[in-house]
Amino acid sequence: MRILGIETSCDETGVAIYDDKKGLLAHQLYSQVKLHADYGGVVPELASRDHVKKTIPLIKAALADAGLTSDDIDGVAYTAGPGLVGALLVGATIGRSLAYAWGVPAVPVHHMEGHLLAPMLEETPPEFPFVALLVSGGHTMLVEVKGIGEYQILGESIDDAAGEAFDKTAKLMGLDYPGGPLLSKMAEKGTPGRFTFPRPMTTVPGLDFSFSGLKTFAANTIRDNGDDDQTRADIAYAFQDAVVDTLVIKCRRALKQCGMKRLVIAGGVSANRALRQGLESLMEKLGGQVYYPRTEFCTDNGAMIAYAGMQRLKNGESVGLAELKAYPRWPIDQLKPIAESETA
Ligand code: KG4
Ligand code: ZN
Repeated sequence: MRILGIETSCDETGVAIYDDKKGLLAHQLYSQVKLHADYGGVVPELASRDHVKKTIPLIKAALADAGLTSDDIDGVAYTAGPGLVGALLVGATIGRSLAYAWGVPAVPVHHMEGHLLAPMLEETPPEFPFVALLVSGGHTMLVEVKGIGEYQILGESIDDAAGEAFDKTAKLMGLDYPGGPLLSKMAEKGTPGRFTFPRPMTTVPGLDFSFSGLKTFAANTIRDNGDDDQTRADIAYAFQDAVVDTLVIKCRRALKQCGMKRLVIAGGVSANRALRQGLESLMEKLGGQVYYPRTEFCTDNGAMIAYAGMQRLKNGESVGLAELKAYPRWPIDQLKPIAESETA
């Protein structure tokens, strides 16, 4: 069985074809980063318009790349939320319409479930159950995962998401949008120990996060120490160190609470090398294992939507023509469990 997956929830147009026996057959990605760079952030209307232009050509390219035609596709999955409503509606409309035209089921997919399941596309996928740390531009949460669709939110950010904190701090330091990866690069030249940032909410019990204070701390540090290149690199280092350390502390707590030794990290910030190193050494200490997607599937992509869509399709889930809907807000713990979760 083969499914086409479409991702248009934010500023990346992603398309992929997934086969439940052979795995990923093709994937195409177009990033709108340049389009939004001048504005210092994503402009929703521009994002929607660009998805309209790019989605169909990317679908054609993915089909050609896999050597397939529309006759070979057994279902169409699209991100139905959470995300920017206009951007989501582009993918939903194209996905729902193609499914109708091709006479196959249409499968709405939850964007964060896509991220959470992205490590399943790798050679050694994690077995259930596990704890997942989802760290993207819009969300930061710890989830207890017992199977596909069996998600219990253990904690989440009460203000900025981790990626958002990276981007806002990077902007303050004069870096282009999205600044997360650029800030991380800058941190490589930083001097450890020159500055120390707080580890928010680590001294109180619980698994919630708060990252908005870190950008203020960065602004104050720049004000008091100047913004020459070395100082900026030192600040970038201290900021990243604080975010990573905070995430590591909370992951350790979550694993202990759930009595688990398997950890999944996914979402844009899971591409961060310092975070991966921090969590790898944590899991080494705990005698456990950390799993993450390959770098290109950490940030938004169609492959994760095709994979998640396939699991939902095999479970008999699809929507009728009248259900063309997008959900800008959609809590992940409202998803339906899939009876027998497999990692196929
Ligand atoms: O998952 P994603 O592509 O989009 C959302 O669903 O939000 O995540 C994008 C976020 C951005 O905030 C970006 O700055 C951040 O992930 N990001 C990083 C890195 N790569 C992407 N943050 C820190 N270090 C990185 N290497
Ligand atoms: Zn995302």
